[in-house]
Amino acid sequence: MSCSTGAAMLLHKHLTPELTSRLEKLKTRNGWTLRKAMQSGLDHEDSQMGVYAGDSETYALFSPLLHPIIRDHSGCNLGGHTSDFSLDGLPQGDLDPSGEFIISTRIRVGRNLARYAFPPAIGARARAELEAEVVQVLTGLKGELAGEYHPLASLSEAQRRTWVEQHVLFKPGDRFLDSAGVNRDWPRNRGIFHTPDLRFIVWVGEEDALRIISMQPGSGLAAVFRRLTSALDVLGEQLDFARDSRLGYHTACPTNLGTAMRASVLIRLPRLSRRPDLHARCARLGLAVRGLHGEHSDAEDGVHDISNAVRLGVTERDIYRQLWRGVRKLIAMETRNGILNEDSQDI
Ligand code: ADP
Ligand code: ARG
Repeated sequence: MSCSTGAAMLLHKHLTPELTSRLEKLKTRNGWTLRKAMQSGLDHEDSQMGVYAGDSETYALFSPLLHPIIRDHSGCNLGGHTSDFSLDGLPQGDLDPSGEFIISTRIRVGRNLARYAFPPAIGARARAELEAEVVQVLTGLKGELAGEYHPLASLSEAQRRTWVEQHVLFKPGDRFLDSAGVNRDWPRNRGIFHTPDLRFIVWVGEEDALRIISMQPGSGLAAVFRRLTSALDVLGEQLDFARDSRLGYHTACPTNLGTAMRASVLIRLPRLSRRPDLHARCARLGLAVRGLHGEHSDAEDGVHDISNAVRLGVTERDIYRQLWRGVRKLIAMETRNGILNEDSQDI
């Protein structure tokens, strides 16, 4: 499995003049065109992918361009996606019993609804309808998933900032999403649902229609995973998520296809983070490194966000196992001052 990083934009790599003339007149039912799909890449030369989907149909209609891009990014031959949320036989104890390294654990999945355009293409009225439909389901959740919905427009600036600082709420204004059209009509008909303990959160109307999030302080990866699984079981019965058997769950950005799952720890690695090869070491473990405040942010005081690098061509169970093993190895390397070989079987 490989994942392109730092390489040329995949849009430029795969869009030939022949493909352009073949695809440029096509339009999905929601009006998504080749031009709209690649606008973000045209605006931002530092894009990794350069394309966004406006709806499910985008992945079928523009497959001559999108499938090579998706294969290239994920290293997956698109032979078919299956979900597997079972943890049977996998380690479920505490990854960091001393509490010295892992600050918090979070797993999110992206989901869109089959009947609606995705955030890059959705219109104002449909966004309002989608929000109402989703909020009705969310506010009906029971037990440990019961909570409240807050429209983004209803939050005070102080509350909004606090939640962003606390890793609870999305930030506005990502320039890639802006170019893709995701931020139109901001902040209307977006919002956040959360339980009182902030362990179960749903972002409505960010990059995907839903970002379903389970998180908690410390290193309880199994508890976080199980909470997310039970939420997805309930939500999946009531909401028709966009997906197919080849690409898995359909997301606005092709990097999230498949499981659409990013499982991460915020972790203190003061020694390893001084080494220039931290990113390369993590990549060899199938892990990606982000900063303290997520994508496009920097690490602070040796604290990094470490997560699975790839979401397609793997199951949810594979992601759990990969994060577990990778983080165990990173902690061992940190405590042994980087001496441990990543391939060592002693973990
Ligand atoms: P996403 O995870 O949705 O792809 P980001 O990388 O922007 O997007 O992260 C969203 C938010 O989640 C950020 O505030 C980030 O710091 C926070 N986050 C990610 N992983 C963790 C974690 N393990 N614990 C606490 N917050 C986290
Ligand atoms: N459009 C950006 C690019 O191509 C996004 C990359 C992945 N990040 C995301 N939030 N989907 O580089």
